[in-house]
Amino acid sequence: MKIIIINGPNLNLLGKREPEVYGHKTFEDYFSELQFRFKDVELEYFQSNIEGELITKLQEVGFEYDGIVLNAAAYTHTSVGLGDAVKAIGTPVVEVHISNTYNREDYRHVSYISPGAKGVILGFGLQSYDLAIRSFL
Ligand code: DQA
Repeated sequence: MKIIIINGPNLNLLGKREPEVYGHKTFEDYFSELQFRFKDVELEYFQSNIEGELITKLQEVGFEYDGIVLNAAAYTHTSVGLGDAVKAIGTPVVEVHISNTYNREDYRHVSYISPGAKGVILGFGLQSYDLAIRSFL
């Protein structure tokens, strides 16, 4: 089972960025925990702040891997291109968010990813990623 986590803009700053919203842990530390927890899963991680790089990565893995866990971060709320890429590929995508975007600003209530996603998990902190991986098992 091959699963990739794809993180969008500013998620490379987890641990430093608005810790009251996103917590104190870096994603690298959390990813090591996930690798330990899911030893039978070939788990990969990719992060980019650049919309086109995220689209290219979705296309690269999207006909080969068993699952994609996508936190498109701010692009969730703006990117028709990412939404189209999610619909274009064959691999199922689970959309995740660390925070509950529905109890935040109105502009975070819109997702261009959700219409093409297999499911959406949000608001459970970093545990949202764990739950998304489990949904593929
Ligand atoms: C986020 C929520 C988005 O609204 C925000 O732009 C992010 C992170 C989350 O994981 O809670 O960067 O996707």
